Amino acid sequence: MPSSRLSGFYKLDIDDRARIVAEWAGLGEEDLATLRQGLTLTQADKMTENVVGLHALPLSIAVNFLINGRDYLVPMVIEEPSVVAGASHAAKLAREGGGFQAESDEPVMIGQIQVLDLPDLEAARAAILNQKRRLLDLANQIDPVVVRLGGGARDIEVRTVTESPAGPMLVIHLLYDCRDAMGANTVNTACETLAPEVETITGGRVNLRILSNLADRRMARARCVVPASALTTNDMEGAEVVDRIVAAYALAAVDPYRAATHNKGIMNGIDAVVIATGNDWRAIEAGAHAYAARDGRYRSLSVWEKDEAGNLIGRLEMPLALGIVGGTTRAHPTARLALRILGVRTARELAEITVAVGLAQNLAAIRALATEGIQRGHMALHARQVAIAAGAEGDEIDWVVKRMVAERAVRLDRAQALLTEHRRNVEGRE
Ligand code: MEV
Repeated sequence: MPSSRLSGFYKLDIDDRARIVAEWAGLGEEDLATLRQGLTLTQADKMTENVVGLHALPLSIAVNFLINGRDYLVPMVIEEPSVVAGASHAAKLAREGGGFQAESDEPVMIGQIQVLDLPDLEAARAAILNQKRRLLDLANQIDPVVVRLGGGARDIEVRTVTESPAGPMLVIHLLYDCRDAMGANTVNTACETLAPEVETITGGRVNLRILSNLADRRMARARCVVPASALTTNDMEGAEVVDRIVAAYALAAVDPYRAATHNKGIMNGIDAVVIATGNDWRAIEAGAHAYAARDGRYRSLSVWEKDEAGNLIGRLEMPLALGIVGGTTRAHPTARLALRILGVRTARELAEITVAVGLAQNLAAIRALATEGIQRGHMALHARQVAIAAGAEGDEIDWVVKRMVAERAVRLDRAQALLTEHRRNVEGRE
């Protein structure tokens, strides 16, 4: 396997970058055409309802990732400047400490069945547990393929909710191993299949039958060690950067206002991979934030510490219900290519890569915040977008960007004024 450590990748033009990726993943000319084209209108029309067009986003490649000893080029779909550059840079830093170590749980989802109108919650609970084997067998009939692949219904847990606006209720959790699928369809079907049986067994009335996006049986974890020396900047010793990063994390550990932004930075990386691979990013977002608030207080999803040798240690743990088969992962041509570029063999491997990218993204953000601040790197990229929005083209873009950054005035009105001035000067010279 060649190395994903590609210095200067960002300096290449789009075609050269695409060629490197094609070579990496064994893509042919047709695949390269698909990379450029993306989803077609006809494909889009089959995907959802009332389609009138397409809404495109950039597909980029984060480089330098070494995860569990394997090199990856990571496709990321995101419109925000600095994110892909940040992930690549942080992956380079983590590489100096051996890359990311990641692991994940078996791909077990939770499906919920809500049972109302029960005079005796405890008796209903005991009755369900008594019939557990029969219910699991019934759930296993709905997807023989998953069962053949080693997945299927694993367990049933029963919770009693004594107080709610709708009175007391029973909540049945069906634990279902979805293997390489995200699993929403299978789990929802399983819950719907069990519902009439549940009513017969309990004498109650089933209301909701749906998976939970708090997929806390399907967690992914990543860890990295960054030597302090790798964090040295032009004007700061690495050891000081480590201390500043740990102090920056400390606020996210205790304060929901900071934790929300800190976790947003993590989700910049997570969502970009989730979208690139055709997965449901709303589900991932919902699970992440619910997990961040699991003990009643919203907290940082990651932890940053210093070890005895002065290295920076980062850890991220979160639910990641991702699939590599079914749904959009297969229906979207670019999502299929993204999975090929990653070369993932299982949904768990995809979750492990994704959680590592989240940790890298978090490192990139807090490293910048704890040192030079986020705006320096951000400003030039943001200025590019503003210059283009103002109508700058070709060489005009760089000229307008340079001026706006020097003036620290990255605004549309200023870009327009500079563009007018520049064009007048050019005309004057001609
Ligand atoms: C911006 O998209 C993300 C950051 O705000 C994350 C953070 O503050 O940690 C930079």
